[in-house]
Amino acid sequence: MEEYFPRNTFQDTVALLNPELGLQESQALAYIILDKIFSISRTDIIVNRQFFPDSLQKKKYNLLVKRLIDNEPIQYIFKEAEFYGYRFYVDKNVLIPRQETELLIQIISNFRSWNKPKMADIGTGSGCIACSLALSIEDAQLVGYDISPNALKIAQYNAARLGANAAFSTLDIVKQNLPPEELDLIVSNPPYVMDQEKQEMKKNVLEFEPALALFVPDDDPLLFYKAIMKKAKISLKKGGALFFEINEQFGEQTLLLFQHYGYSQAKVYKDLNDKQRFASAVLE
Ligand SMILES: C[S@@+](CC[C@H](N)C(=O)[O-])C[C@H]1O[C@@H](n2cnc3c(N)ncnc32)[C@H](O)[C@@H]1O
Repeated sequence: MEEYFPRNTFQDTVALLNPELGLQESQALAYIILDKIFSISRTDIIVNRQFFPDSLQKKKYNLLVKRLIDNEPIQYIFKEAEFYGYRFYVDKNVLIPRQETELLIQIISNFRSWNKPKMADIGTGSGCIACSLALSIEDAQLVGYDISPNALKIAQYNAARLGANAAFSTLDIVKQNLPPEELDLIVSNPPYVMDQEKQEMKKNVLEFEPALALFVPDDDPLLFYKAIMKKAKISLKKGGALFFEINEQFGEQTLLLFQHYGYSQAKVYKDLNDKQRFASAVLE
C-alpha cells in the first residue's frame, strides 16, 4: 500500500483547487476534503503521521476535486449545509443558505419577547429561516411558502428531520394573496439580485444555484418587497412585524416603500460587512 502524508495531501489539494477557486477557498475546501474522504482532521495534518488510502478513497478524492474545480458548490455535492447551528439537506432545487442570513434570525429573536408567535416565511427555499425560527423561539408556529414545489419538499424534509413545528404550502406571492390570518410576524428573503449584477457573480452561484431563487428584473428590482408589503397587511395582526433580507443597494428605497404601504417603525440593519442587509417594520 502506498503511504501518504497529511501535510503533502493538504498542500497538493490546495495546489489543484487554487487556480480556479483562489487560495482562501481552496484551503477551506482542502480541510473538508481530507476530513470527508480520508477522515483526516486538522490535528492530523499538524501531527503529519502517514496514512494509507485505499483505491476507492483515491477514486472518490479525484472525483470530488474535479467537481470542485468545475465550480460545483460543496454543499450540493454533500447535500448538506449548516445554518444557525442546524444541518439542512440541500440540492440544486434550493438556494444554499447564506451565513449572513443567520443574522436575520437573531434580529427577529431579539426584536421583542415573542409569546407563542404565529409566523410565515415567504420564499422559504430549504426552510432554513422557517425551521431556525420554529426551533429557536419557544412554542412558535410557522408556515413557509414558496412557488417551487421541489423546494417545498426539501423544506418539509428538513423540518421533519430537525423536529421543527413548521408547515409548508405552495404560493406565488406575486400572483396570489396570503390567507387572512392574525400573524405575529412575516419574514422573507426573496429574490433580490438584479439581472445586471450577473456579470459580477461567481460561477458556482450562476451555474449551479436556482435562478428562480436569485434574480429580479432590472426595471423592477423591488417587486417582491412591494408584493409582500401589500399582501402582508391581510395576514398580519395589528402590531405584527415584517422582516426582510434586502439587496444592500436598496436600504433607503425599502424604508420609503414601508412608509408608502402604511407601516411604521421602519428600520434598516447592517450585516457583519457593514452593508445594509435587513429591514423591519410594524403594522400599527
Ligand atoms: C433568496 S431565496 C431564499 C431561500 C431561503 N429562504 C433562504 O433564505 O435561504 C428566494 C426563494 O423565493 C422563492 N420564490 C421565487 N419566486 C417566488 C414567488 N413568486 N412566490 C413565492 N416564492 C418565490 C424561490 O423559489 C426561493 O426559494
